[in-house]
Amino acid sequence: MSKEVNAVIIMFGGSGDLAHRKLYPALFGLFQHGVLKDHFAVIGTARRPWSDDHYQQIVADSVREAGATDDQAIAAFAAHFCYQSHDVTDADHYVTLKQLAAKLDDQYEVGGNRLYYMAMAPTFFSTIATHLKSEELLTEQGFNRLIIEKPFGHDYASAKALNDAITGTFKEDQIYRIDHYLGKDMAQAILALRFANPWLKGVWNKDYIKDIQITLAEAVGVEERAGYYETAGALRDMVQNHVMQLVAYLTMDEPKSLTPEAIHQVKAKAFDDLHRYTEAEAKQNFVRAQYTAATIDGQAVPGYREEDGVAKDSMTDTFVAGKILTDNPNLAGVPIFIRTGKRLTRKSTQVTVTLKGGASPFGQVKGNQLTIYIEPNEGYTLEINAKKLGETTTLEREWLNMRHEPQAVKDAPEAYERLIGDVLAGDQTNFNHWNELAQTWRYVDVISKAWAKDQTMPTYEAGSMGPKAAFDLLKAGDHDWYWQPRHTQLAD
Ligand SMILES: NC(=O)c1ccc[n+]([C@@H]2O[C@H](COP(=O)([O-])OP(=O)(O)OC[C@H]3O[C@@H](n4cnc5c(N)ncnc54)[C@H](OP(=O)(O)O)[C@@H]3O)[C@@H](O)[C@H]2O)c1
Repeated sequence: MSKEVNAVIIMFGGSGDLAHRKLYPALFGLFQHGVLKDHFAVIGTARRPWSDDHYQQIVADSVREAGATDDQAIAAFAAHFCYQSHDVTDADHYVTLKQLAAKLDDQYEVGGNRLYYMAMAPTFFSTIATHLKSEELLTEQGFNRLIIEKPFGHDYASAKALNDAITGTFKEDQIYRIDHYLGKDMAQAILALRFANPWLKGVWNKDYIKDIQITLAEAVGVEERAGYYETAGALRDMVQNHVMQLVAYLTMDEPKSLTPEAIHQVKAKAFDDLHRYTEAEAKQNFVRAQYTAATIDGQAVPGYREEDGVAKDSMTDTFVAGKILTDNPNLAGVPIFIRTGKRLTRKSTQVTVTLKGGASPFGQVKGNQLTIYIEPNEGYTLEINAKKLGETTTLEREWLNMRHEPQAVKDAPEAYERLIGDVLAGDQTNFNHWNELAQTWRYVDVISKAWAKDQTMPTYEAGSMGPKAAFDLLKAGDHDWYWQPRHTQLAD
């Protein structure tokens, strides 16, 4: 049983999609595990005029849709939820919210702890933070913590403006900037793999590593998110945050310990160490593209520019591939190839580290390849050169495969449950520090500026693994994408 935490949780965007699909099930998981127990209340806020009863029904539906079946537990959990109709731009509403929070604090004997969750459009983040201060919602006793969803800005300048607004109300150690990739088991597993295996530590450097490849592939198109996606594109939606977090885990120095301070120190250095391109170099080393219509498994799918809500002449990237370099002397010169996109062949997030081959008593041998499967499958594959059964010196390629059991993956806490649990415990390890975020925006801004001056938008067929240029990027230096879903011999 985990340690119980007392809190009044104020959820801005309580009627939204994220709250329904992810946050209520995550809170229910924490309730089931005893982190939230008797001394907590959740206030959902949004403009629509819902009653408490209706809201509790919505919360119960949400956890059932996520797979919960224990009616008694669901009812006990939902009873802790209240709804407050609230327009975040209206100062008077914060007064009512403050009174309700104080009343629930008394009722559930919370002791002043407050968790504010900004689960709504980012345009409102600074307004909410400013009002929380001016209407004096932060408590004197207990903790006050803020969880803020992505996107955190659109570029460095807007991220800084947002950060300035938030830090006018909350101190850095009260701010939890979410990147849900940091809550994923297999993203966290990279650290254990790298730093708890002496043999791997010994080869994790430029002498042994030929390249590192990171793929975050989505099979779906833009779906109903065109309004947001048109303002973001793959570079801002995926590279600036999730891809960069994986790059940091794969390139950072060994932390002195696992404390949040020690981890943030080496992560911040990993972002500082990223080799900065000029705009001209960024254009050479990064490829963007948009998907075009195709027939996939007998079904016609539209191209990006034909999707609902997308401009016919949209210049939004739905695919990015690139070569990232680090100036960390340990890995200097080792290319880190990244790619992410929508409407790719198959959904998968995976990392492959390819070691250099070389001479051996058996002749020239291929290097080993270590793949970390992050989602939807979770596990590892190591490719080795092994002696062929029944022969003396003939080698063959063997795959050492491990996958977590699907049921065990299903039973493990979901990323949002782990992350909200971390916030309740006051652990900032798996959240973005402002310094880290600032560096990733600075890195990505050079690429977007370079692209903004270019009026051509390359394309790739929906269902493929991106444009030819994304393959040429590797071939230029005797590299190739390890994961090519149409051809691979491996089940991933
Ligand atoms: N959905 C996802 O899977 C996902 C994934 C990652 C990150 N995010 C991030 O999470 C945040 C929320 O996304 P979402 O998909 O849940 O958005 P959403 O479904 O559009 O929900 C927006 C919420 O804000 C409320 N709202 C809008 N204007 C308001 C106002 N003036 N005052 C008070 N409430 C207002 C809406 O309710 P009313 O209309 O009733 O006011 C609704 O509850 C965004 O930052 C998004 O980028 C979402």
